[in-house]
Parts: sequence; C-alpha cells; structure tokens
Amino acid sequence: AEPGWTETTDVVVVGSGIAGLTAALYLREQGLHVTVVTKVNIDDGSTRWAQGGIAAVLDPLDTPQAHAYDTEIAGVGLCDPAAVRVLVEEGPARIRELIRRGAEFDRNPDGSLMLTREGGHRADRIVHAGGDATGAEVQRALHEAVRRDPWIRLVEHALVLDLLRAADGRACGLTLHVLGEGSEDGVGAILARAVVLATGGMGQIFSSTTNPSVSTGDGVALALRAGAEVTDVEFVQFHPTSFVSNGSGAPRDTSAAPQVDPVQRPLISEALRGEGAHLVDENGVRFMVGQHELAELAPRDVVAKGIYRVLRATGADHVYLDARHLGKEFLEGRFPTIMASTRAAGVDPATDLIPVAPAAHYASGGVRTDLHGRTSIPGLYACGEVACTGVHGANRLASNSLLEGLVFARRIADDIARELPEQAEPARAAASGPAWVVDPTIRAELQRAMTRGAGVLRSADSLDTAAKELARLAEQRSTPNNAAWEVTNLLTVAATLVAAARSRRETRGCHWREDHPNAADEWRGHLRNAVGPDGYL
Ligand code: SIN
Repeated sequence: AEPGWTETTDVVVVGSGIAGLTAALYLREQGLHVTVVTKVNIDDGSTRWAQGGIAAVLDPLDTPQAHAYDTEIAGVGLCDPAAVRVLVEEGPARIRELIRRGAEFDRNPDGSLMLTREGGHRADRIVHAGGDATGAEVQRALHEAVRRDPWIRLVEHALVLDLLRAADGRACGLTLHVLGEGSEDGVGAILARAVVLATGGMGQIFSSTTNPSVSTGDGVALALRAGAEVTDVEFVQFHPTSFVSNGSGAPRDTSAAPQVDPVQRPLISEALRGEGAHLVDENGVRFMVGQHELAELAPRDVVAKGIYRVLRATGADHVYLDARHLGKEFLEGRFPTIMASTRAAGVDPATDLIPVAPAAHYASGGVRTDLHGRTSIPGLYACGEVACTGVHGANRLASNSLLEGLVFARRIADDIARELPEQAEPARAAASGPAWVVDPTIRAELQRAMTRGAGVLRSADSLDTAAKELARLAEQRSTPNNAAWEVTNLLTVAATLVAAARSRRETRGCHWREDHPNAADEWRGHLRNAVGPDGYL
C-alpha cells in the first residue's frame, strides 16, 4: 500500500526497551526532535522481563580488563575486542547516568551498590533492582523520563514495514502501520534525518523462549529487506533455566502469575545460581560439577548443553534447580519475581525443587554495526539486541545485554548529533512491507519446526528438514495485515538463521552442531548475509 500519511522528525527510533528509550533521551540532550515508534505498548518489550541485572565494573577491586576477559572467554573467539573495550570502559558511567535518570538499584547498608555474580563472571559486578526485577525498574525509570519530555513523540501500536532511502542511498525515514491512524489501512511514513532500530530480539521463532510475544525479529527482517549487513544470527543463546511450569506435577494456578504469551516461559535468573542454587538431575546429582571449573556458573552455553545432555539421556523435559538451602526469607527478599511466578504454578522454591529447562533467550547476532552503532546503510543505526556490535561473539556473557543498550545508545546519539544531514526526500515511491506475506496461522508450526531443527542442538539433517518446512510454510500466503507482516518477519529471520547455521560447520558458543562437534580456526569469523531476504526459499 502507498503511505496514506507522512510525518517528519529529526530522528525516528524504532522500539521502546532500554536501547530505544535511552537513545531517545540522549538524542534529546543533543537538542534533537525524536519520535519513538513501538509495536504495541511502550513497556511490552523484553527489557521489563530482565531479572539478573546489568554488568559493569563498579567494585574498586574489579577492572575493565577483567570484565573484557570474561566477555571474550564467553564469546569463544568471535568478540570484537575494540567493541568489548568500549562496552566495559564506558559501562560504569552509563549506569551512573541511568541512576541520575531515576533508576533505583539495590544497595548495601552502607549505601554502596549491591553487586552479584552470574555465569561466566569471575567477579561480583552485576547491579540489580528489586532483587530480581531489574528490567522492570529500568523500564519504569526510562518510561517516566521519556514521558516527562514533551519533545519526544511516542507512537504506540506501530509496526515498521520498510526503510525509506534517499537518492544517494541514505536512510531518510520508514514506512509503518499504525493501528487506527490516518488513512483507512493505517499505513504511513515518518521522514527523518536518521533512523535508529532498537526493536529487540527474535526469541519467538522458537516454541519456548523467555522473550515476550513482540520479539519477532522485525528490525533484522527490515534490515534484510533493505540490504543491510546482518551477521552472527546463528548464535541464538538458550538460557539454561527457564521455568517448566508443569514439571512438578503440581496443580497449575495461574491466577497470580503475570500475563505471558503461550510460548514465553518465566525466567529463573542465573543470579539464583550466583547466590548458590544448584542444578540437579532427578536423582539429586549435581551434574555440572566436573564438567567445567565454574560448574553451575560456567558460561551459559556450557550449562545449557550440560542440561540438554541430561534431557536427552533421560527423555525428561526438565532438570531441577535446588535453592532450598538458601532459605525462605532470603529467597523472598532477593528473588520476589521468581518466587511469585513459581508459587503461582504450585512450586515453592523454599521447599520444592524448581523444574527448569533451556529456552531461547537472546540473539547475539543481528544488524552489523561499527563502534558508533552505524549499520552498512548510511543514516541507519542499530542498538541493543537487534544489533551485532561485536561485543557478544558466539555467546553473550550474562548481564551484558542491558549494558550494551546503554553504552551504544549514547554513542549513537553522539554520532547522529555530529553528522546529521538535512532531511532528504525518499528516492522513489515508498515500499510498504515485504513483497509477499504469509498466513499468520503458521506461527506455531514455524516455532515447532525451528525448535526441532535449529534449537539447542543442530545437525545438517535437522537444519535441512527445518529449511524444507520453512519453505513449505512460506507458500501459505495471505493478504497483508499486522499479524501477517509479523509472521513474515519471523519466517524471514528464521530462514536466515537456518541458512547461517547450515553454513557454519563447527561447534562454537551457542551454535552446537552434533555433526561438527569441535570449534575450528577456519570458522573464526563472521557469516554475513549468508542469504538474501527472498533468495533462500
Ligand atoms: C538472568 O537473569 O539469568 C538473565 C541475565 C541475562 O540474560 O543476561
């Protein structure tokens, strides 16, 4: 459809989690007008579900070099050292600025920030809020700061469709569908002098994920359609411990549980293991001991694999986390979110083992950027989970993701303010969305195909089967509407992931190939747009 309405702003930011809202606030400090567009409501993204915290060197005995070391070890040879240095060196100042914006983190009796540890960290360097409600507090503070600023226009219920380009190729805005806006079908355009993608992740390509229903890879799909460079999408991190709510056989009472989408699983934060909880199999054996020097606190890919091996061997759909020895009082004070979600399902971590299993959690890859968040398309920036800045490599270190959003949002705002051109006209009639769209009812089938074929453990055969199933699903076309566009984005990023995972014939970080079980030096690099947006099917 042709855009039925047009608005103009200095910078359009797509997405309203930590990356998008922080970018908007820093852009305002540069005196720019900002429009934030978000797919559903401002607080619906992944940020508010984050539990563990934000990693940064805030203890005088810790060092940025140590944080960089842990980040690079977790990333298994694929981290970009310059990007990691930016992350660890600038992180502490960005957290202090977040505190000045109103975020309240947990503190020790002497007023210093309380720091905890998670997998892969060799020091206590993770700040948290409300015990295990860090993301909710960060989202609250940023939301309030954005609402206080009358020069930030917020457009909710807005699904982005395509990038607009000027005659010289520069990004100059985007097309989007806004429910109830403008012309009959709600498709419009926002012209801007720079575009920031902060659309989050793609966990919804799998049938169990810690991500909310909105995490459908919209930014990566838009970038692929625009021809921007996308890298490392094969590295989807599976969080070792999502809550398997029927795992105890206990009656399920969801009345007190937060509203979640059917494939979203409650997270059981790694911080619970950081505070001493153990993983055990059905016989009570701590199976991670002896597998890695850090046992349950090994990097996330190692723990997810350890659990997956037990699940394969036993045929069970969960192992257990034992937190009983931490005591009711401590658990209630430190982990109120986890206690509420597990108790709502009839599992009391003070007295019961917690059934857990890996679930898709984080896309380490995404739209390739440089150290200023610039993508390969001039004027198009990417920030947060949608981006691949190079800090995560083949496996993201715990609690580095909120940090990445903070650090690169600031760099993007500074870069935009330095380089902002005049508004350009789109070169040709605006494209509005993919050339064809698929039937939204294939969503669950797509998720199952991806979990079976491209989940924790992959092989050439499983990936071939997944590719064939995706090709079959792609033939089920539909007329354009929001649900169809969203599922078409899921299909686009799923197929890109499968193609990249087929190409990478090694095991590295969170990409685990049964048929190529070792890491190989020849693969110590990035696969870039292994496929085009339409060419792979
Ligand atoms: C967690 O709390 O375990 C999640 C932290 C993260 O994903 O970095």
